[in-house]
Amino acid sequence: MSDYTLSDETGAGATRLPLMKATLGHDAIDVRHLLDGSHVTTYDPGFSSTASCSSAITYVDGEKGVLLYRGYAIDELVEKSSFVEVAYLLLFGELPLPKELAKFEYDIIHHTMLHEQITSFYHGFRRDAHPMAVMLGVVGALSAFYPDSINVYDPMQRLVSIDRLVAKLPTITAMAYKYTVGQPFVYPRNDLDYCSNFLHMMFSVPAEAYVPNPIFTKAMNALLIVQADHEQNASTSTVRTVGSSRANPFACVAAGISSLWGPIHGGANEAVVAMLQELGSVAALPDAIRRAKDKNDPFRLMGFGHRVYKSYDPRATVMKRIYGELLDELDLGDDPLFEMAKELEKLALEDDYFVSRKLYPNVDFYSGLIMKALGFPINMFTSIFALSRTTGWLAHWKEMIEDPDQRITRPRQLYVGPTLRSYVNLDARSTTNGTASKMPSGPAMPSEASIVGG
Ligand code: CMC
Repeated sequence: MSDYTLSDETGAGATRLPLMKATLGHDAIDVRHLLDGSHVTTYDPGFSSTASCSSAITYVDGEKGVLLYRGYAIDELVEKSSFVEVAYLLLFGELPLPKELAKFEYDIIHHTMLHEQITSFYHGFRRDAHPMAVMLGVVGALSAFYPDSINVYDPMQRLVSIDRLVAKLPTITAMAYKYTVGQPFVYPRNDLDYCSNFLHMMFSVPAEAYVPNPIFTKAMNALLIVQADHEQNASTSTVRTVGSSRANPFACVAAGISSLWGPIHGGANEAVVAMLQELGSVAALPDAIRRAKDKNDPFRLMGFGHRVYKSYDPRATVMKRIYGELLDELDLGDDPLFEMAKELEKLALEDDYFVSRKLYPNVDFYSGLIMKALGFPINMFTSIFALSRTTGWLAHWKEMIEDPDQRITRPRQLYVGPTLRSYVNLDARSTTNGTASKMPSGPAMPSEASIVGG
């Protein structure tokens, strides 16, 4: 390990900072003790150049378009593995032995049911509530049902919580869907694998038998594996931040769901399909490209661009292939949205604006099309992403709790507000203190009584 030396422009001296070595990718300058020997902090909004932790779970090479879970390439895992096996790999670091996988599968299968009283939570929501709103409420509420598993200092309780969350997320997600369409909740079936069971809870009705289509199950498996983890993204960092205060894992995952919901994070999969549907035809695409480039227009090409990938997102490659296979295997012919997506990709990748900024399709560009083909309504897309990403969140939460270097997250700031000043009494204040322009103008806000509806 060699050191970095930070010279102080004020002449107060130089600070030696240790260099931490990565097994792959960027090494890191260890600034933990920077303030001990200097009077400066580092400034990095959005963490463009900051490693918030060390992690052995997932590796992303944004320049080369590589994604590895515990060292295994994402496309190989999609080809050869099951989502539950990948969950084991992410959580415990190695591919399981047959008996380890059998035990893990058994544990997951035997935690899929929800406490019956949880159904009353669903009935408290409006039928038109977004499934993500319902999910974050219900997942957070699990902490009220499992007080025995909220002691995060007990390794055994941590494992039980992990099993419960991985097992119950499909049930919670499917129930959110059933509630919005007014169908009865469907209970999990222990004879089905993880993906088939989820499809069963989503699509079966008491009136007729439902046999999950193996082609759908295979696509579902790929979808869940591809979305399971992506190192320190916004929602995973949120889970780590919330967990750093030793909050229970149900609260942490609810926080992850909140973060994922945003339209420029996990919400982008809904936004891509909505965008394509709104554009309506290939003829409308050049204008969409023009609008995306216009800085005065808030329109962005959803499903394009990524903080880390500066080449084709390997998850998008897998999703595009799986979607093509799904269309062939189901003999669905050409999907106009797929034709639009491929043409939009082609136009963008020929355009200097996108090329120079290295904006390529990301995971969300094709994943929504797969979910649509599987029969999921658009407003369920981000919930399915959350169901999959729960495994990654829990792997990071577990790694963080077990990491002796981790402390409560407490960033510093560059303070740019006023220096010390004296309080001015109300009647002595100037009428032009500048805040009027920052307040919303127009009529007063409507009262609660006038906005309650539905
Ligand atoms: N359409 C048009 N311009 C874009 C786009 C886009 N989709 N994405 C980035 N840009 C431009 C941006 O305007 C900026 O231009 P300039 O340098 O002239 O100011 C430049 O590219 C860099 O963009 P940025 O916003 O500074 O990059 P970021 O790393 O902060 O944001 C991003 C990354 C994913 C939030 C952004 O690319 C974006 O909003 N994409 C659309 C939403 C989306 O698809 N999100 C899913 C991300 S992947 C899955 C996930 O996170 O869950």
